[in-house]
Amino acid sequence: MVSENIIEEIRQRADIVDVISTYINVIKKGNSFVAVCPFHNDKNPSLQISRSKQIYKCFSCGAGGNVFTFVQDFEKISFIEAVRKVASIIGFEHSELNEPVRKVNDETKDVLFALNNACELYSYVLNTQEGIQASEYLKKRNIEEDMIEYFSLGYCPSDGESSIKLLRGKNISIEALDKAGIIQRNNNVFVDRFKGRLIFPLFNEYKECIGFSARRIVDNDEAKYVNSINSVVFNKSKVLYNYQNALKEAKKEGYVYITEGFMDVFSLYKVGIKSSVAIMGTAFTEYHAKMIKKLNVEARLCLDGDDPGQHGILNMIPLLQKEGIKFKVVNYKDCTLDPDEILQKYGPDVLRKFLNRLISHDEFIFQYHLKRNDVSTSEGKRVFSNLIIDHLKNENDFVNREIMLKRLSDITSISVDSYLRMLGSISHDNQEEVYQSSDIHDDTSTNSANRYQRVQDKIIKLMLNYESAIEDFNNGNNYFNDKLYDDLANYIVDYYSINKNMKISDFITYLSKIDNDNSKLLLKKVIESQDLNETDPNYSKELMNEFLKELAKENDKSNIKKKISDPFNGLTNEEKALELQKYLERRGKKNGIKEK
Ligand code: CTP
Ligand code: MN
Repeated sequence: MVSENIIEEIRQRADIVDVISTYINVIKKGNSFVAVCPFHNDKNPSLQISRSKQIYKCFSCGAGGNVFTFVQDFEKISFIEAVRKVASIIGFEHSELNEPVRKVNDETKDVLFALNNACELYSYVLNTQEGIQASEYLKKRNIEEDMIEYFSLGYCPSDGESSIKLLRGKNISIEALDKAGIIQRNNNVFVDRFKGRLIFPLFNEYKECIGFSARRIVDNDEAKYVNSINSVVFNKSKVLYNYQNALKEAKKEGYVYITEGFMDVFSLYKVGIKSSVAIMGTAFTEYHAKMIKKLNVEARLCLDGDDPGQHGILNMIPLLQKEGIKFKVVNYKDCTLDPDEILQKYGPDVLRKFLNRLISHDEFIFQYHLKRNDVSTSEGKRVFSNLIIDHLKNENDFVNREIMLKRLSDITSISVDSYLRMLGSISHDNQEEVYQSSDIHDDTSTNSANRYQRVQDKIIKLMLNYESAIEDFNNGNNYFNDKLYDDLANYIVDYYSINKNMKISDFITYLSKIDNDNSKLLLKKVIESQDLNETDPNYSKELMNEFLKELAKENDKSNIKKKISDPFNGLTNEEKALELQKYLERRGKKNGIKEK
């Protein structure tokens, strides 16, 4: 753990202009500094850096923040990694910054010790006479020395007892071996669960061995793979094979391939792609999605080309979307092989090209269902349409949606309008109308919403620039109805009450550490409030009071509107019926229907 004080000290010692200059070319312009913005496709220097405020802001794309957010976004790393990085750039040293010492309890420590010793032992055995059959198997599958080392492959002695004896000799208890899932009881003797098998060690993000998968090396009717059972450190649905290497490689490449098995990861390695993981034949889980999210790069889905593989991809899509992960799908077209088989059959060049044949998830879903439905029949059209429409219900990109609907319409000859109706967008508009009780307030709702937002913005801006404004806000009976502003105001007030000051560059650090779904939007508001060009004028209490009065007025209006949008709130059933009748009468009048 790096303490708050240390983080603040690093922030204060680091000069933002100097640090940003180590990444991009910074130009001095009068009293300020500018650069070509690295966060969008910039041609002119739109990024401004303020030495006095120690923040940056792009007036073109709106990116902004302090020295930590710059390094974090530039390097695509976590906040705490950015803190370490800035410390190393400015040559700041502190014991807290050294590699994190992972704190684990005694049981976990024992289990990890057993597993990591077993891992070393197996890899040693592979190079001995005992491992000769496994070595030959690897040779047959074109797995060379460098890969054996890179993936720490091993072999478990076939007698099932010598490995246990050797591990016992290292003072590892039977209990620990049992908890680690290495031993199995066989007629009152303990034998190694993985005996006679090729060993694929499985690692966590700290490169600690947490379990094994073991392949048979002869063709018989035993299970192809024997896996570790769940333990304090191992859970198959929370492991991605090769994740420990992908952590580093993904950052270099900007992508990560997600495959089904070990052999696929190996095949990709053979054609020069080290940034890949495998789900090891299980279903892709929410937890896996979170691990992928952490890599912060484009995911490329490459499960096998057969039916289970392609169906697996279909199931992964909503999980990836939920995490907001950018991803593409490798287009198998009609190929039903896996990457390993493609490599063997067609060679490295074909596999490499194949892996770069990427399509969007929309395209994938379209093709997936098109292939599996006979759209020349009306039943096939119906089923196919429903499947695509169901998918499009979650599509927020309306242009994309329109394009898909057009394609769908071309194939089925059903009109785009009908599809829009199926999507519910037409009936949805009607609903909106019902809720606009326009008889009561005359200004259009967007106008008043804008006014409301404007006054909230003005007050937030003053609070972020003047400490007195925070006090004035806090002393009165003031609040924001919009959640974003309300959150931000609370964070400002909290920060100020703890630190007794409002320094934007440090407040940004404070926000960066907050786990709030809206933290990006909050940061954006903060950056918007900052003027990097001029020195700020003095605080005007009168102006603040004016804004606060306006806020109170807008709050009242918004409270009334809330009541109106639920017109039945607090009414008895009889009163509700009466209101409904009145409403229908009003509607009748409006539509020109005469009352009797
Ligand atoms: N798997 C498993 N148990 C099995 C079969 C498979 O745990 N009985 C897992 C393994 O992690 C395997 C993955 O599912 O890597 C994909 O299975 P498969 O495609 O059958 O294995 P490959 O990796 O292709 O291995 P090989 O080429 O040796 O058959
Ligand atoms: Mn396979």
